[in-house]
Amino acid sequence: MSERITGPSFFIGRGGDGADGLISFGSGQPDLAPPDGVFEAMWNFRGFKYGLVQGDELLHDALAQDYPHADAEQFVISNGASEAIDLVLRALYEPGAQVALQRPYYYSYPHNVTLAGIELAYYDLVDGKIDLDEFEHAVHTCRAVVINSPSNPTSTVQEVDTLKNIEEICDRRGIWVISYEVYKDLIYVRENYLIQGTRVVTINSFSKTFAMCGYRVGYLWARDRDLVSRIVDMKSRTAMNTSSVGQAMALAGLGVRAAHIVATVPVWKERRDLIYAGMQKLGLEVWKPEGAFYILPKIKDPTRAMHDLYHHYKLIAYDGTWFGAPDRLRFSFALDAAKIEEGLKRLGKFLANEYCSY
Ligand SMILES: Cc1ncc(COP(=O)(O)O)c(C=O)c1O
Repeated sequence: MSERITGPSFFIGRGGDGADGLISFGSGQPDLAPPDGVFEAMWNFRGFKYGLVQGDELLHDALAQDYPHADAEQFVISNGASEAIDLVLRALYEPGAQVALQRPYYYSYPHNVTLAGIELAYYDLVDGKIDLDEFEHAVHTCRAVVINSPSNPTSTVQEVDTLKNIEEICDRRGIWVISYEVYKDLIYVRENYLIQGTRVVTINSFSKTFAMCGYRVGYLWARDRDLVSRIVDMKSRTAMNTSSVGQAMALAGLGVRAAHIVATVPVWKERRDLIYAGMQKLGLEVWKPEGAFYILPKIKDPTRAMHDLYHHYKLIAYDGTWFGAPDRLRFSFALDAAKIEEGLKRLGKFLANEYCSY
C-alpha cells in the first residue's frame, strides 16, 4: 500500500541528492553554491552565546545600507521569512481582524493567518496577475494584505503600476501591506519594485538568493517603531535570537550580493527556459515564469498525479491544492539541467501511460 501524502512536510528535506534516484521538483531549495565568503564566515565563526533578539547589529547596518530611507533599528532578523511572517501577523492581531491573500498562495500563508487568530479573505489572480478591482473589493474590510511578487507558486511578477496602485489603495484605507519579497533578486523581466509606505512591512530571506535555506536566516523591515518593539518582545519569548553563525554568513553574503546575482540569475533563466519549453512540448498549459523558480502546469486531479508521480516515477511535484490551485501541480526548477531533462522524461512517460485514463 503506497504511503498517503497529506502535506509538504512529507517532502521537505527529502530527495535531490540523486542517491535515491528521486528527481525532486518539490521544495524551493536552490542547489547553487553560496558565495565563497559565506563559507569562510561559517568556518571562522566562534560565537556560542545567545545573541541579540532583534538580530546582529552589523547585519542591521548592512541591511539599512541596502534599502532606501531605512534605519538599522527597523530590522528584525528572523528564522527565515517563515518566522518573520508569523511574528508580523501575530503582532497585527486584533479581534475581528482580517488579512487578504492572493490565490494561488504560498501554502503556509493561510495557516500563518489562522494561527495568529486572524480571519482570511481571498482574491483570485487572473492568469497569475492581480486584478485591482477584485483586490480592492477583497481588501476593503481588511487590516492587512500579503503581497508576494515574484510569487510562489505562480512565478509571476506583478506590474509596477499594480504595485503602486496597491500602495495608494492601502495607504488611503489604512491597511498594512506585508510585502513578501523573498524572490526579489530572482526576476527575469525587470528590476524589483520595492513597495513603500509607513504601514509597509517588507519580508525577505537569505534562503533563496544565497542558497542558505538550512541556516534559517530571514528578516523583516517595519517602518513602524511600535510594531518592531512588539515583534521583538514576542520573539524574546518564543524562538529568541536567530542562529548567530547563520547571521554571520548572511552578512558575508550581503557584502557580495550584486556580483552573486549577476553570476546566478543567468543560470536560473536557462533552467526556466528549459523547463518552460519542455512543458510546452508535453502539451501542458503553463504561465511563463517571470521570477522565482516555479512552474505550475494545469493537470487533472493533481492529488492523484502527485501520488502516482512519486510512487511510480520517482518524481516529486507538489499538489496544487496545497496552494489554492486545485487544477495544477507545482514544480520547483531549483535543480540542474540534467535532472530537469530526466524529470521531464519521467513526466512525459506518466502523461502518456496513465494520465489518459484519469
Ligand atoms: C513564499 C515563500 N515563503 C517562505 C519560504 C520559506 O522561506 P524561509 O526559508 O526564508 O523561511 C519560501 C520557500 O520556498 C517561499 O517560497
